[in-house]
Amino acid sequence: MGRNIEIAPSILSADFARLAREIEKVESAGADVLHLDIMDGHFVPNLTIGPPVVSSIRKITKLPLDVHLMVQCPERLLDEFIEAGANWMSVHIEADVHLDRTLHFIRENGIRGGVAINPATSLSLLDEILPSADYVLIMTVNPGFGGQTFIPSTLNKIRRLKNSIVSNAYPTRIEVDGGIGPNNLDSILTAGADIIVAGSAIFSSGKDASEAVRDLKKIAEKHRSS
Ligand code: DX5
Ligand code: ZN
Repeated sequence: MGRNIEIAPSILSADFARLAREIEKVESAGADVLHLDIMDGHFVPNLTIGPPVVSSIRKITKLPLDVHLMVQCPERLLDEFIEAGANWMSVHIEADVHLDRTLHFIRENGIRGGVAINPATSLSLLDEILPSADYVLIMTVNPGFGGQTFIPSTLNKIRRLKNSIVSNAYPTRIEVDGGIGPNNLDSILTAGADIIVAGSAIFSSGKDASEAVRDLKKIAEKHRSS
C-alpha cells in the first residue's frame, strides 16, 4: 500500500461571502479534509470563526472537518467544537499546560486529536505526548494569518519528526500548515509530511480553487508509492 497523502484546503483565504460555493469546489476536485482555522485574538493576533460557523459548514459538506485551535486554554472550547461537528481537532502545545488531559478528552469523544507546534518550539517537547496524538501539526509559518512565506528551517523539523515516528513505529501522522503551494510541496512531501494544509495556494492564487486542488493532488500523486 502506498503513502496516504491528504490535501486539506484552509478556508481562511476563501471568500467568506461565498463559502458554500468555495467548499463545493474543493470537495468536488478531490480535497480530502477541510481545514478550519480558529483564532481568538490572544494566542494569535487575529480573530476568525467560532462553533456556529463550524456547525453551518458541517451541514453543507461531507468532508471531515479539521479544526485547528489557535486559542489560549483550548480546553474551554472542546465541547462546543465537538458539538459543532469537528472530526479532527488540534491544540497548540504552547497554549495548553494539560495537553495530556485535552488529547485524551478529544479522542474519547471519537475525534482525532492533534498537537500543533509553532516554528520556534522544540520538537523535544513532544517526546511524552507523541504516543497519545493521532497527528502532529507542524506550523511552517508563525500562526495567525494566511498568505505568509514558508519558513525553510521547518523542512528539517518535518524530517526529524518523521524519523522519530518511524523509529518508534508510532502511527502518528504529520500535518503541515503555512506557506505551502505547488512550488515547495515536492520537498515538503519528501521530508515526510502526510497531510497538506493550503489556504492562499488554493483560494487566492488567481486560479480556480478546484484547479488549484487538482494541481496539488498531481504533485502528491508522485509520492504515493514512496
Ligand atoms: C495560519 C493558518 C493556516 C493558514 C494557511 O495561521 O493556521 O491554516 O490558513 O494559509 P496559507 O496556506 O495561505 O499559508
Ligand atoms: Zn491552520
